Amino acid sequence: MKKHDIHKMYQESVQCVEAEIDFVEATYKSIRGNEARYLREDFSGTGQTAGEWVDRNPKNRAWAVDLEKSVLDWGRDNVLPQLKNKANLTFVEADVRNSGLQEMDIVLAMNFSYFLFMERPTMIDYFKSVKDSLEETGIFFLDAFGGYEAAKELTEERQCEGFTYIWDQASFNPINSQMQCYIHFKTDDGVEYNKAFDYYWRLWTLPELQEMLLEAGFSQVDVYWEGTDEKSGEGDGVFEVSKLGTADAGWVCYIAALP
Ligand SMILES: C[S@@+](CC[C@H](N)C(=O)[O-])C[C@H]1O[C@@H](n2cnc3c(N)ncnc32)[C@H](O)[C@@H]1O
Repeated sequence: MKKHDIHKMYQESVQCVEAEIDFVEATYKSIRGNEARYLREDFSGTGQTAGEWVDRNPKNRAWAVDLEKSVLDWGRDNVLPQLKNKANLTFVEADVRNSGLQEMDIVLAMNFSYFLFMERPTMIDYFKSVKDSLEETGIFFLDAFGGYEAAKELTEERQCEGFTYIWDQASFNPINSQMQCYIHFKTDDGVEYNKAFDYYWRLWTLPELQEMLLEAGFSQVDVYWEGTDEKSGEGDGVFEVSKLGTADAGWVCYIAALP
């Protein structure tokens, strides 16, 4: 691998696949009373999350689905070799709306990737296709973000090991809620990766998402809201079903949709 690699920097600054899979694994078990085995990671990028899933249990199987051959290739070359249960992860180059992968216990759409479906009919079609690909006892997990700073044009910097991660909300159009975001990286030795990742998507609200999931045929849709650490006032990493959120500047939550 090159000294600086945008996928590696993305993994280190954006993803926390252990926490994500902790939540998904425990929530599935608490709702269904048994363990999930078959997981499809939609918009998988390099398939990190799917990799974490197969390494949790030798009986687990996962499919990482993405349109882009180059990110899947990166996953095959860099994520797969690190896994104990390599044979249980399959990379699939396909559109998430017709990957043909059915009978899943879990489908994941994480890191807000599905926000790139801009229109209600397109989003509902995607949600319907997910519902059709789940077992009756399956669960669709998504994440969402929002808050009063989510629609602001701003940049946020965070120092990571060896580089700075820069989140750039470059433009927001209040008329259609579409926004342009970028991730830039600046390495400590001065190399800049401008617009390393580019997201043009719609900032959907939680009521819209819940309504569309129900319209797509899911029978139950729950929002899991993060608790607050009393000392720091920050999120405590514990997500629980809630009907009442807090009017934070920026929040991230999970949604679970049951067929
Ligand atoms: C934000 S990345 C998500 C990476 C990863 N899921 C994560 O949690 O960080 C979005 C990915 O979605 C893929 N993508 C976009 N539209 C897609 C579609 N219709 N079907 C499959 N993959 C798609 C892109 O190629 C890109 O790799």
